[in-house]
Amino acid sequence: MMIVRSVAELRAMVAAWRRAEEIVGVVPTMGALHAGHLSLVEAAKGACDRVIVTIFVNPKQFNNPEDLAKYPRTEERDAELLGPHGVDVVFAPPASEVYPEGFATKVSVAGLGDPLCGAHRPGHFDGVATVVTKLFGMTNADRAFFGEKDWQQLQIVRRLVKDLNLPVEITGCPTLRDPDGVAMSSRNGRLSPEDRAKACVLPRAMQDAAAAIASGGTAAEALASARTAILEAGFAEVEYLELRAAEDLAPLERPDRPARIFAAAWLGGVRLIDNIAVPEMSPA
Ligand code: PAF
Repeated sequence: MMIVRSVAELRAMVAAWRRAEEIVGVVPTMGALHAGHLSLVEAAKGACDRVIVTIFVNPKQFNNPEDLAKYPRTEERDAELLGPHGVDVVFAPPASEVYPEGFATKVSVAGLGDPLCGAHRPGHFDGVATVVTKLFGMTNADRAFFGEKDWQQLQIVRRLVKDLNLPVEITGCPTLRDPDGVAMSSRNGRLSPEDRAKACVLPRAMQDAAAAIASGGTAAEALASARTAILEAGFAEVEYLELRAAEDLAPLERPDRPARIFAAAWLGGVRLIDNIAVPEMSPA
């Protein structure tokens, strides 16, 4: 497995693979890898001849400089984790390679980027859309793999690929969870053991709300009970907890089309996000 830092070197390698008619896959990451990322790598391995994992902590998607500074950077450990998974290249460019002097372009997906995390992290999704577009351009990959844990991000990436006619096929991969139901995330490692033990209340409360809504309860009531349970467990704040359409993220009262519950909540200074499907209601 090679570690490549320059776009020119990466492009030369990918060009050779393409001449040999090999299918190239990319798994974009910000490092601090865990089993969830490795499941994306496995999906890419199963669908592609060559796999690139990108590791780049993208400053443009952090609206809070403290959050950017605290984001774990564990490149050596990441490379060790990827070693046994048959990855061809880790592309880990410095910021100056991604955003050279004079860089002035922004990719912004209207609508989908506005609610949920977009409403609470101004500029976040413009930063994501910009870097993902660049990573597609730099890697020239045929296929790209993203986790469903960041569902809103996944929908934004699908939209921008369609709108900009980018020749890359997007695959969403299911969220991996710890045995207590907590969605795997690079941020979980920042929770104290006490807070990590409380974190399972978030997915549990969401599952209870999903079950109540699926059996005909109102979203408002089910989500209010979930919010109470989350706060009573010791979370400091529930930033959002909403029922929305899975595809266009429109707010819903009832799951009369594919729907999901989306949540972001703060626990011990760490922002956790999650989303789960709500079974569709059959029309009355
Ligand atoms: O999901 C992430 O890790 C990041 O948002 C991504 C897609 C790698 C862009 O920086």
